[in-house]
Amino acid sequence: MKMKRNILTVATLVVAFIFSGSSAVAQDFALWPVPDEAAAVENPVAPTKESLQSGKSLFDLQCKACHGESGKGDGLIKSADLTTPEFLAQTDGAIHYKIHQGRGVMPSFSTLPDEQLWDLVNYVRSLSMVRDSADLKDATVSIYFNDADGQRELTAKVEETNAEGQVVPVAGMKVNFAVKTHFEVGFLPIVAATDHYTNDNGTVTVAFDDTLIGDAKGVLHVVASIEDMDYAPAQVTEAVEWGKPNPEDYWTDRRALWKNNEYVPLWLLISFTVSALGIWLIIGYVALLARKIKLEGDRYENDVNT
Ligand code: HEC
Repeated sequence: MKMKRNILTVATLVVAFIFSGSSAVAQDFALWPVPDEAAAVENPVAPTKESLQSGKSLFDLQCKACHGESGKGDGLIKSADLTTPEFLAQTDGAIHYKIHQGRGVMPSFSTLPDEQLWDLVNYVRSLSMVRDSADLKDATVSIYFNDADGQRELTAKVEETNAEGQVVPVAGMKVNFAVKTHFEVGFLPIVAATDHYTNDNGTVTVAFDDTLIGDAKGVLHVVASIEDMDYAPAQVTEAVEWGKPNPEDYWTDRRALWKNNEYVPLWLLISFTVSALGIWLIIGYVALLARKIKLEGDRYENDVNT
């Protein structure tokens, strides 16, 4: 379901991107009427930290590309500014209605659970409040691997330094687990299905997926990152030999031409050598011709002089 949503969002983005050239001219959007009964709906979800946190996660995933990190409508696609006084003047019900319905480039999010829509309303409303990054607290995250009784588990521990200078655990912190993909640019979320929060000891433990494929030696780079509105982003990466060895670890080792000839496919070696030789032959031939021209010129000069 979530996957389908993401695909839909990406598809919308692509389509929107194609048409953004024509719509960029009209930067302000026409008034968006909301039925009275929709505008009158009361927000049943209080803007608690949990609600705002959930709203932020959703926003970063589904809305940020268009509306921008700060919600000013300065994302990839020109969209509505969600921080203006005019925007904030409308009721929660009206904002909910617009997210639910969508209009034009703005997709409909009617498939999201209603509670998540209200989380979004709460978060969007909080966007205009100045959030100074200097106010963010710092926490560190570390990963531990436990392999007792053949049950592989991953534990993340989140700690911070309190006012007295002591290192103390942080409870209730959302932790995301992922492995780095081969290209080192993407993260493949693992144990993603549910949210994981640290307990009173500042730790959260999850079962490890044994089916992940690592590099040639089975090494996986596991990433744990924290997600909390009051804390600056932090993450840690640790290597562990818990993946299935990948004999075809093409991307990391084999592809490098300069690394080791034994990894280079024969066809590549031959075609490379042939084309390199060919280029040098041409260069040599041109040099030869140049010399010939010069000799001819010298001879001509001699003939004229004598
Ligand atoms: C593909 C780009 C795109 C995405 C993704 C997107 N929006 Fe929008 N959004 C727009 C555009 C464009 C408008 C202006 C639409 C109009 O007025 O015709 C808009 C308008 C809005 C409005 C109404 C603004 C107003 O002035 O009343 C709200 C609220 C809103 N978006 C919230 C969200 C939320 C929340 C999400 C994520 C769940 C989201 N949008 C995702 C492009 C996008």
